[in-house]
Amino acid sequence: MEINTVGVIGAGLMGSGIAEICARQGIRTLVTDAGPEQLAAGRRRVEASLERGHRGGKLSDEDVARINDTLSFTSDLDDFNACDICVEAIVEHLPDKKDLFARLDRVAPDHAILATNTSALPIIDIARATSRPEQVIGTHFFNPAPVMKLLEVVRSIATSDATLASTREFGERLGKRIILAQDRGGFIVNLLLIPYLTHAARLYESGFATREDIDEGMRLGCGHPMGPLQLLDYIGLDTAVFVCESLYEEYANAEYAPPPLLRRMVAAGYLGRKSGRGFYEYGGADA
Ligand code: NAI
Repeated sequence: MEINTVGVIGAGLMGSGIAEICARQGIRTLVTDAGPEQLAAGRRRVEASLERGHRGGKLSDEDVARINDTLSFTSDLDDFNACDICVEAIVEHLPDKKDLFARLDRVAPDHAILATNTSALPIIDIARATSRPEQVIGTHFFNPAPVMKLLEVVRSIATSDATLASTREFGERLGKRIILAQDRGGFIVNLLLIPYLTHAARLYESGFATREDIDEGMRLGCGHPMGPLQLLDYIGLDTAVFVCESLYEEYANAEYAPPPLLRRMVAAGYLGRKSGRGFYEYGGADA
């Protein structure tokens, strides 16, 4: 299937990046969010990213104008009635995702693929909220979506071969390297990554080492581009807690349980870079 129009739902960290890479490829892209403020924040995130590309010489004036022409922001989900694929990137909460997929199922054309950027939730549970489970698939992009090369494609037990083939083609068109994961909590990457991150949070919580030494240990000792506490701040602590909860629910293994400190930080509004404070302090929201 040829994909000419993409709809992105959720204009947060991930949705804004996904929308940007689609528009950069010249694919007509619509973006929506729960409210006007969140939508405006998403638009600012895309504009700031394009501005960085322009300043760095990677995008010309014409490129920026062309990308802006390709991208539309709307508060009306009914505008998604001509999308060939909808990519959902809303909060990592199963009831919210199911509710949205039921609405998308009513609005999107019959041929449209409904994709979710979930980090760990079962694709089949989301698919069952629609009348087209064979056209529902996981497209797990990585943060920041315009930069990270990987796309983890997750096929549920009900996803059709045609949906998988079109999704692969779409991912390749966006310049991504595709890996195929099974519909099991955490897929490949988060199943390996989350226990590492939560171990780091527990080490810090126990007073075993300072945040700087934990992060520097992994950066300089293992060659990681950022340490685990920095990475948690980058992912967003609320998202990390949701992912831990769904892994814990899937496997009932204590290593996936969210560390109490993470929960308390989220309760306090310390969500990481996006709120200006997490394990570290940042210059302002979305720093
Ligand atoms: P975020 O908190 O930055 O953005 C979520 C956005 O969704 C917000 O703008 C919010 O207003 C909007 N939203 C919530 N409910 C909505 C609804 N019913 N309709 C429309 N918009 C709604 O979260 P982030 O980090 O962008 O995560 C989004 C999804 O991507 C989650 O499923 C997360 O697990 C996944 N993900 C996150 C990664 C990360 O590093 N943060 C990496 C890969 C996947």
